[in-house]
Amino acid sequence: MKKIAFLTSGGDAPGMNAAIRAVTRACVYNDLIPVGVSKGFDGLINGDFVEMNARSVKGIINKGGTILKTARSSEFRTIEGRKKAYNNLKKNNIDALIIIGGDGSFTGGLIFHKEFKLPIIGIPATIDNDIFGTSHTIGYDSALNTVVDVIDKIRDTASSHNRLFFIEVMGKDAGHIALNTGVGAGAEEILIPEENLGLDRLVESLKRSKATGKSSSIVIVAEGDKTGKNVFELKDYVDKNLDGYDARVSVLGHLQRGGSPSCFDRVLASRMGVKAVDFLLENKTNLMVGLKDGIIELTPLEKAIKGKTNINKELLRVSDIMSI
Ligand code: F6P
Repeated sequence: MKKIAFLTSGGDAPGMNAAIRAVTRACVYNDLIPVGVSKGFDGLINGDFVEMNARSVKGIINKGGTILKTARSSEFRTIEGRKKAYNNLKKNNIDALIIIGGDGSFTGGLIFHKEFKLPIIGIPATIDNDIFGTSHTIGYDSALNTVVDVIDKIRDTASSHNRLFFIEVMGKDAGHIALNTGVGAGAEEILIPEENLGLDRLVESLKRSKATGKSSSIVIVAEGDKTGKNVFELKDYVDKNLDGYDARVSVLGHLQRGGSPSCFDRVLASRMGVKAVDFLLENKTNLMVGLKDGIIELTPLEKAIKGKTNINKELLRVSDIMSI
């Protein structure tokens, strides 16, 4: 093993730069040549490679986004695209590939490995925290902190005007952000994709809150919640079925993916980057590094993609109790 290429793919996440830095420096430390690939799998197809050194990654541990850029590549979904990618890797004498991204990126990586047998290690990075085989993905903790900070700010205006706010957070398939920030910011209700708590329950709960003297309330809605209504329709439904609330909607959107990574994410990314290189040197392949009980361990990419992450049901109960 002499040359390792790496790329960031899918939605960006705070801490991706810390992972790029870790992989680069771990390569240099082990006398390997680190090669950064720009714009995810598109960069593999277009031969967008740059040889890095320890100094190429200076001053980026605290930066959001990804210096390598990222993309969701449609060409990599075709066999022609993947052949081009493989030829470029061979032309540049690359011995292995590290993919920093989410399950979509790992799915592409797995197909690529099956076709061309190039050793691959995945580093999980997505704010959604929806990857099996790790308790935390890179970017999740930073996003939680960003979202809690914003909800706190919305609460200031909500309570000043005695208003009810519906706040939509990211998570089209997973409620981890909604559930944790909902508890952390003291939301009255939390709607997530994993559980359908029902519209009646929502209305009843808001009625109860009002009856017990609450003048303002916050409902956190994950993008993919199960009510079948988007956040604006939810507001309309509550307007129709509940008197006395002045409701507003706030969609947090992509600000949740930006900003400086938290200390937790920087440390996690550094650990995962170092281990990814260690494992490749041990001839391990087709695996994802993940955090399990505080230790960086491996999960087969196949399992990481197919396995489901579970929400912490205890948090639903805690939220119920806290919002009486
Ligand atoms: O990174 C994952 C995610 O945050 C999802 O929760 C969200 O639905 C999606 O990205 C949106 O990303 P984009 O607008 O880049 O497609």
